[in-house]
Amino acid sequence: MDAFAYVSGDYYCESVPVARIAEETGTPVYVYSKAKILSQCREFKNAFSDYPTTICYAVKANGNLSVLRLIFGEELGADVVSGGELERAFTAGASPNRVVFSGVGKTRKEIQRALKLDILSLNVESLFELQLIEQIACELKKKARVALRINPNIDAKTSPYITTGLHQNKFGISEDDVERAAHQISESDHIALSGIACHIGSQITDLEPFQKAGEKLASLSESLRSQGHPIETLDLGGGLGVSYQGESIPGLTAYAKTIIGAVSPTQLKLIIEPGRSIVAESGVLLTEVLGIKRTPVKQFVVVDAASNDLFRPLLYNAYHDILPVREASESFALIADVVGPICESTDFLGKNRRFPALKTGDLLLVRNCGAYASSMASNYNSRTRAPEVIVDGNSFQVVRRRERLESLWEPET
Ligand code: LLP
Repeated sequence: MDAFAYVSGDYYCESVPVARIAEETGTPVYVYSKAKILSQCREFKNAFSDYPTTICYAVKANGNLSVLRLIFGEELGADVVSGGELERAFTAGASPNRVVFSGVGKTRKEIQRALKLDILSLNVESLFELQLIEQIACELKKKARVALRINPNIDAKTSPYITTGLHQNKFGISEDDVERAAHQISESDHIALSGIACHIGSQITDLEPFQKAGEKLASLSESLRSQGHPIETLDLGGGLGVSYQGESIPGLTAYAKTIIGAVSPTQLKLIIEPGRSIVAESGVLLTEVLGIKRTPVKQFVVVDAASNDLFRPLLYNAYHDILPVREASESFALIADVVGPICESTDFLGKNRRFPALKTGDLLLVRNCGAYASSMASNYNSRTRAPEVIVDGNSFQVVRRRERLESLWEPET
C-alpha cells in the first residue's frame, strides 16, 4: 500500500493533507502513517507464516514509543542493541520471550538487566563478552540463554558504511573462534548455547547474501548440535532494503522463501530482525523553505530541517527523494542543493535536485524517513529535536513533542 500521495495537488498522508500538520506543529516534523506501519508488520507475518519464525523489530530504526506500541501490538518482538533500547522496548510493552539483545560492547549492567528479564536471547559478539556473561549468570544463579553472533564474512553487496558481516567489521565472532566459544560454553554450568545469529548488513537489495548466510548458519548449527549444544534458533538478522532511488527490491515473499529455504533443513526456529523494511516507507520529514540562495556556481534551497534531523545524507551520502508539498504545475527548472542551517559545509539533505520555482515559506517533504531519521537525530548546534506525528485515517496525533530548548541545558545546571 502507498500511504502517501498527491491528491488534487496536495500531498497527503492517508486522509490528512500534510500541510495541515505543518501548520499545527510547525516544521521540521516527522510524519508517520499508522496504516503503513501495520501493513508492513502484517506482510512480514504473512510472508513467514509457513515456518516457525519470531520477527524481532530492530528498535534502532525507529524507537518512538507509539511506533513500538503499534508494532508490538502486532505481536512482533524486539531486537535491541543497548540498555536504553531494552528499557524502551519494555516500556512500550515488548514481551521478554520475544526480545533479542545484540551489540559489540554490552556492559555488566546491561547484561545483568537482560538476564534478570529473562529475554529470548543474548547475542554474544566476542569471547570476552562470553566470559562476562558467565560471571554475571553465576552471580545471579541463572542459566543464561545465549546465541553466538558469528561474523560469516559474507559480502552483503550494500554500502560499505552499513556492511556488518565482513572480517573488517567489528561485529560478531569470527568463525575461527566459534569452536573456542562453544567449548567455553560446554565447560560452564551457567550458559546454554541456544542459538546462532548473524547480521550481514543493512539496505540489502539482493537475496543471494541472505541465502549464503542462512546456509552457513544451518551447517554450523548441525555441527554444534552434534557436539551436544541445545541449539533451538537461527537468527538471520534484518537487512531487506527499501527503494530510495528507484532500486528494485525483492518482494517479502521471495525474501522469506530464500531464508526459509536455507534454514528449513535444520527444522530450527527462525528469528529475523528487520528494522528499515518495517518503517522506512511509513514516514516523511516535512520542512519549510527559508530562502533560495545563489552563488556564481550553485543554487541552494535553504530549509529549516538539517542533518541533525536526517543524518543519512551527510553520514553515508544517502539519497532521499525531496518533493514539494504542493504539486508543481510548472517545469522543474530550479537545480539546487537542499541544505539546512547547520554550520558545516557537509550539512545537506539532497544535492543537485530539480524543483519548480520555490520561495520562502513553501513546504518540502523528504521521503522514506520512517527509519534511521528521528532515531539518529542529534542536538548539534543546539537544535531541538523535531516532533513526531502519527496519522490515522483523517486524524493525527503528536507522539513526540518538539523538544524544549531548556531541556538541552537542564543537565548542565
Ligand atoms: N539487527 C542488527 C544486529 C543490526 O545491527 C541491524 C542494523 C538490524 C538488525 C536492522 O537492520 P535493517 O533491517 O534495518 O537493515 N543507520 C544506517 C543503518 C544501520 C543499520 C545497522 N544495523 C542507515 O541509516 O542506513
